[in-house]
Amino acid sequence: MERTLVMVKPDAVRRKQVGEVIRRFETAGLTIRALKMVCLDRRDAEGFYQVHRERPFFASFTQFMSSGPTVAMVLEGPEAISRVRQLMGATDPARAEPGTIRRDLATSIEQNVVHGSDSPESATYEIPYFFSALELCPYEREPN
Ligand code: PPS
Repeated sequence: MERTLVMVKPDAVRRKQVGEVIRRFETAGLTIRALKMVCLDRRDAEGFYQVHRERPFFASFTQFMSSGPTVAMVLEGPEAISRVRQLMGATDPARAEPGTIRRDLATSIEQNVVHGSDSPESATYEIPYFFSALELCPYEREPN
């Protein structure tokens, strides 16, 4: 079993796409282990994305990520990190495969609807950024 940190970004929250994004992950068999809506301030966003701090889009991107609420969740399943990234599609929605979340819902490379951890190391940093151990609830999920 593997865990990954997923966020529905402020653009998708504003466009009422939270349910659609979560539905795609649930339908694909991933288990929601924790979930909440959070409002990142600028410093929170900069801390979360600190590995990208030298990139030219960092200021604009962290401003966008702190422009409204995001819905953060921990998804769990076999190879959850790569499965979530497949379902998300490429960072740039214009390059994402048809049928992926970003191809179907995203409007730009910055406002691209969803984030998913890109490696086990990233997930190890990102999950406790949002969730304490008490918030990661064990339960049995019914089969699809
Ligand atoms: S990844 O997941 O780290 O491989 O993706 P990457 O392409 O390196 O991008 C990291 C995050 O930066 C955002 N991004 C951008 N924002 C604004 N403008 C441009 N040009 C741009 N390029 C990348 C991208 O949405 C990624 O966000 P997350 O939340 O990690 O998916």
